[in-house]
Amino acid sequence: MLRFETAGESHGECLVATLTGLPAGVPVSIASIDRELWRRQQGFGRGGRMKIETDHAHIVSGIRHSHTIGSPIAILIENKDWKNWTEALPVEDIDGAEDHKKPVTRPRPGHADLAGAIKYNFHDARYILERASARETTARVAIGALAKSFLVEFGIGVLSHVIAVGEAKLERPATWEELVALSQRDEVLLGCVDPEAEKRMKAVVDQAYKTGDTVGGVFEVVARGVPPGLGSHIAWDTRLDGRLAQAIVSMQAVKGVEVGYAAEGAAAFGSKVQDTIHYSREKHEFTRGANRAGGLEGGMTNGQDVLVRGMLKPISTLRRPLESVDLATRDSALAAYERSDIAVVPAAGVIGEAMVALVLASAMIEKFGGDSLAETKRNYQGYLEQVKNF
Ligand SMILES: Cc1cc2nc3c(=O)[nH]c(=O)nc-3n(C[C@H](O)[C@H](O)[C@H](O)COP(=O)(O)O)c2cc1C
Repeated sequence: MLRFETAGESHGECLVATLTGLPAGVPVSIASIDRELWRRQQGFGRGGRMKIETDHAHIVSGIRHSHTIGSPIAILIENKDWKNWTEALPVEDIDGAEDHKKPVTRPRPGHADLAGAIKYNFHDARYILERASARETTARVAIGALAKSFLVEFGIGVLSHVIAVGEAKLERPATWEELVALSQRDEVLLGCVDPEAEKRMKAVVDQAYKTGDTVGGVFEVVARGVPPGLGSHIAWDTRLDGRLAQAIVSMQAVKGVEVGYAAEGAAAFGSKVQDTIHYSREKHEFTRGANRAGGLEGGMTNGQDVLVRGMLKPISTLRRPLESVDLATRDSALAAYERSDIAVVPAAGVIGEAMVALVLASAMIEKFGGDSLAETKRNYQGYLEQVKNF
């Protein structure tokens, strides 16, 4: 079992991630984790915060001589902005602390502010938004990079791209080679493989900038090289489609998830939706007429690319704030404004990759076990042999 946890607040000292259950011997490079962290910070439409931070993974345990050693891995990522918040959010109370607080008493619609303040009994939503913030996903991306390093050892790659920003859509499928090229770019606009569609997406973000508004969109995560048989049909909580859906919807601002071409399928007849089954006698293998199921049938991977999409609502904080109520006076008031992103779909794709990688790595470890990478690989090879001779 792979277990992971994150801690840390948006303007606290650092973010922390722990990952337990990776076998010993997985090669790890800090540069490759930092590259993923950099990718998460990119995209046209990000706010001023991303200009302050240059995220770097500081590994404090579980990795020695560039390899996992089987013990829990802990990673710290510094918040450079913390230095501006040491008096507003001190760990230990200090004299006059009240004067330095930056209270949020006008909860922002679409945020955790109001529900969290009621639930935790604070009349200031500051502590709530500090943890609800998507800054937390930095920690997920760091350990997702470790899951990716593990999956690469089995020939499994996980990438993403943006398929819609507001109403501007990519109208064609992307090839794997396009996704690889996209992931290697040193400048990220909106994470779309098609320059013409990306231009239309940029126009939508430009419009949001001009009008003080925000936009959402859709990203797609693709996992290639996944063997058939991860997950299982036998119980609700062993179905991999369900586990992937939870991982994606757990992301801040993601309100919908699609496995394969779910929405299109729901609007079509069955004869047009299911992926026909064929057999190649020369290659001794089953092939499929299409991959509308997104590589998952009956809650199990079927050997085709795993396709999962996440639908992001528009960013909740608006420069032209929406109506709210002051928690102290209960009078109508405009919602608080905190420096904010306008559009984050490419970054969400990178976070989606991390979440999918963590779920797939977990399913691989459950199925093939092993305390060392060599042992996991041996078990995996045995299974591939079984599949080949089926
Ligand atoms: C990468 C990323 C960056 C985000 N940045 C912001 C932001 O700058 N301002 C904002 O209001 N919401 C931002 N969000 C969304 C909020 O974190 C999210 O809407 C909020 O925590 C409430 O959670 P919910 O939308 O899942 O209900 C971001 C989300 C992601 C995935």
